[in-house]
Amino acid sequence: MRSFIGRDILSLKEFERAEFERVFEVARELESIARKRRNSDLLKEKTLLTAFFQPSTRTRLATEAAMHRLGGHVLGFADPKMTRAGDFYQESMKDTVRMLEYYADVIAIRHFQQGAPAEAAKWSSVPVINCGDGWGEHPTQVLTDLYTIWRWTGAVPGLTNLDDLTWLCVGDMRMRTMHSLSYALTQFGAKVYYVSPPEMSLTEEFKKELEAYNPNYTEVSSVEDCVSEADVIYMEPVVQPDYTKSRDERSGDVGLTPKRYQISKELMQTKGKRNAIILHSLPRMDELPSNVDPTRHSYQWIEAFNGVVMRMALLALVIGDGILI
Ligand code: CP
Repeated sequence: MRSFIGRDILSLKEFERAEFERVFEVARELESIARKRRNSDLLKEKTLLTAFFQPSTRTRLATEAAMHRLGGHVLGFADPKMTRAGDFYQESMKDTVRMLEYYADVIAIRHFQQGAPAEAAKWSSVPVINCGDGWGEHPTQVLTDLYTIWRWTGAVPGLTNLDDLTWLCVGDMRMRTMHSLSYALTQFGAKVYYVSPPEMSLTEEFKKELEAYNPNYTEVSSVEDCVSEADVIYMEPVVQPDYTKSRDERSGDVGLTPKRYQISKELMQTKGKRNAIILHSLPRMDELPSNVDPTRHSYQWIEAFNGVVMRMALLALVIGDGILI
């Protein structure tokens, strides 16, 4: 297995099964620090810089919270308009990163351009973590989601690990989470159903790339056609902003989610598996009504907690100077 020390976390495309397992084991090791709501001193001599060129609630704050839990230091920006990359100068990623790398030991980037974190990594001598790039990938979110299943399924009869589960992925398949997840699931023998509006389906280009990893998937037109088989339901909105923009304001009526892309309490009661797990990385619109939250299927708040734990694991692995090895 390749070492994580000093490594960029840009994509799950080249992640191997043993690497997933290593990350999950480290997350489990560090989980108690977050659960006790304590800060440790594991990374007390390290600094994280968050450079977010697109809005975020969870990813930026969970990454920063993770660094605090490990006793490290945090600086950064959440509004690119207040930097030279977002004003008159439109400073290039190269010039921006060649500055930022002197200010921290690891850089966590969210950007509206697909490939921007990879471009940053080209110029940075410190590790770069992709926190979501356009329609590209969102590796830290999907590692969080997979950890949630890996960690919690042990308690569910018949579901003991990530292998051979049936997944129902519903929403906009252009989403970066769907891309990272699709690559990851090929490592675990998953059967995947994709349900999306035709204009938001998996692109031919992406399917071609995925094909190299021998995936097992079927595209279907409604959640009703496959929900009864699903062990895990993975959701994204179909009513959502343009992820290739730095910021997309809501204007006027944005419409409602058609029933075929919605997971309702009634659908789970009538057709869902008894122990099915629903994951939603959030934010949500009406595709997952809040009356599903109190049911045993709902795992999005566990995902939220795990979001901190997973970023702790990644930071410790990447800049921990081998403290965990
Ligand atoms: N899931 C997720 O990426 O949320 P944020 O956009 O709030 O970071």
